[in-house]
Amino acid sequence: MQRRQFLAGSAGLLTAALAPRFALANVPTPFTFDMVPPTGSREEFVKWGVSQRGEDPKFLGERFDRYGALVRNEDLWEDRNKHAFLLTPREEFVLKQNLGRAYDHAFLDIGYGVTISGPHIVGRMTSTIDVKKGEKVLEIGTGSGYQSAYLSHLTYNVYTIEIIKPLAERTRSIYDALIERGYNEFKGITSKNADGYYGWEEAAPFDKIIVTCGIDHIPPPLLQQLKPNGVMVIPVGPPGAQRVLKVVKNQAEDGTITVARSDIYGGRIVSFVPFTKLEGDVIKGTHNE
Ligand SMILES: C[S@@+](CC[C@H](N)C(=O)[O-])C[C@H]1O[C@@H](n2cnc3c(N)ncnc32)[C@H](O)[C@@H]1O
Repeated sequence: MQRRQFLAGSAGLLTAALAPRFALANVPTPFTFDMVPPTGSREEFVKWGVSQRGEDPKFLGERFDRYGALVRNEDLWEDRNKHAFLLTPREEFVLKQNLGRAYDHAFLDIGYGVTISGPHIVGRMTSTIDVKKGEKVLEIGTGSGYQSAYLSHLTYNVYTIEIIKPLAERTRSIYDALIERGYNEFKGITSKNADGYYGWEEAAPFDKIIVTCGIDHIPPPLLQQLKPNGVMVIPVGPPGAQRVLKVVKNQAEDGTITVARSDIYGGRIVSFVPFTKLEGDVIKGTHNE
């Protein structure tokens, strides 16, 4: 349905300002869920990435270096998550002027007053929800598209919502251009422009939900759309000072639902862009209570 929803004619102009796109040839070896990039050495990984994925050796090397830092920092927990990180070309999702910083330990401006989250946060939040192949995952806050691109290496069932319409369109056009180049894994991403506070009723329930904007409470519709025993990760707290919570919706044998919360950073404050609100067609204020 909303797969490849935004084939907007104007999107090409927007993407032109965006990225490197040297490797315009088709991806030599299409993605499969049993694809395992080599992790023995930087040299081996770069050689593999050039021959199998047709990617730029400079970015492959930087990706491998950042991967090493994420592993040392315990932001990547399982092999599947490690491989997904290594398979996701972050350089395709940053603005052209930030290409030199694509693999920095930092969030970066993506226009429209919002950011692409830093790789360590993306790695830890994704590890927390531990997505398995076939699971249905909802992301609130598509932004650059990097998070959902990463998720698409873990399951073929990714739904993502972005509130800023031109950003949602721009990101959809990036996915579509990458699909044209042979990144068939991005066909697993269904996107729409909407206010994510209300989730995605028609696609619910979800095994996992990942929220990438900060709010002072857990949106009841998201909790409701999470399957029993499902897991959500969400930054909760006052503006600019959230704690990133893992929320597990437990269902006992008698059907009773309880919610368990834990802090994935042991209490450390992390700052996220606000969880804004759509009134009609206009973004107005936030969903904070
Ligand atoms: C940290 S940024 C983007 C992170 C993103 N996951 C990525 O990989 O680039 C958070 C995003 O949430 C979006 N957002 C904020 N409030 C929202 C809402 N109510 N519904 C959907 N998206 C929202 C922002 O516009 C922004 O693009």
